[in-house]
Amino acid sequence: MNYSVVIPAAGQGKRMRAGKNKQFIFLKNEPIIVHTLRVFIEDSWCRRIVLVVNKDDRREMEKLTSTFKGEKPIELVDGGSERQQSVKCGIDAIFDTRDEEKEEIVLVHDGARPFIKQEVIHRLVQAAAIDKAATVAVPMKDTVKRVRDMTVVETMDRSELWSIQTPQAFQLVTIKEAHDKAEDANQLGTDDASLIEWAGRSVTIVEGDYTNIKLTTPEDLLFAEAILAHKERV
Ligand code: CTP
Ligand code: MG
Repeated sequence: MNYSVVIPAAGQGKRMRAGKNKQFIFLKNEPIIVHTLRVFIEDSWCRRIVLVVNKDDRREMEKLTSTFKGEKPIELVDGGSERQQSVKCGIDAIFDTRDEEKEEIVLVHDGARPFIKQEVIHRLVQAAAIDKAATVAVPMKDTVKRVRDMTVVETMDRSELWSIQTPQAFQLVTIKEAHDKAEDANQLGTDDASLIEWAGRSVTIVEGDYTNIKLTTPEDLLFAEAILAHKERV
């Protein structure tokens, strides 16, 4: 089963406080974004990789991706100031050059999540082929409370709560429509599945695992080193 992937990597990584886009931070001997790209380069189901970059990083991203020569082409696309805009640039690039004969599944996966496993990607793609929209997620471990002015307003029922990750997978036409509508209505979401929900459609949950972290704040680099070390042992 084939899919294309959009990898948004055009952020600034402000919360990581590294003084540069966090995608370039080294984990072992490679930048984070190279770890992420490698998963998709090695996956035989993945036929197209669109990497969304910001203008300041373009040259460095070109340099990094040129090391993958001879394998799958990595297409570089300019992003926007919000994640949603960056993803839309990637989706548009795929949509504009699609093969109209084929039903396409497109994945959106954060450049900053290098530990996604192929087995999870494949279960997600199969779910999206049937349900049109699906996301990887894990059950919440912590109790979650809604808080206002540092006072608890409400305790959520944990048995119903899931932490949402990427990849998220969609039928191409479905996600293209959702992004177009959201842009027209100035609707901004922190993930792509929320745009599908906003359009009144359902999103299927595919259970992933807790190692698929998004590298967001400096402590996450410690967890990342531990996950890598564990991967090497097994
Ligand atoms: N992203 C993007 N374009 C943006 C903002 C974010 O492509 N305008 C990408 C990031 O590069 C990252 C993913 O979306 O791979 C998830 O976003 P996040 O973890 O928030 O990364 P940053 O926005 O870079 O970090 P921060 O919010 O701390 O500045
Ligand atoms: Mg951000």
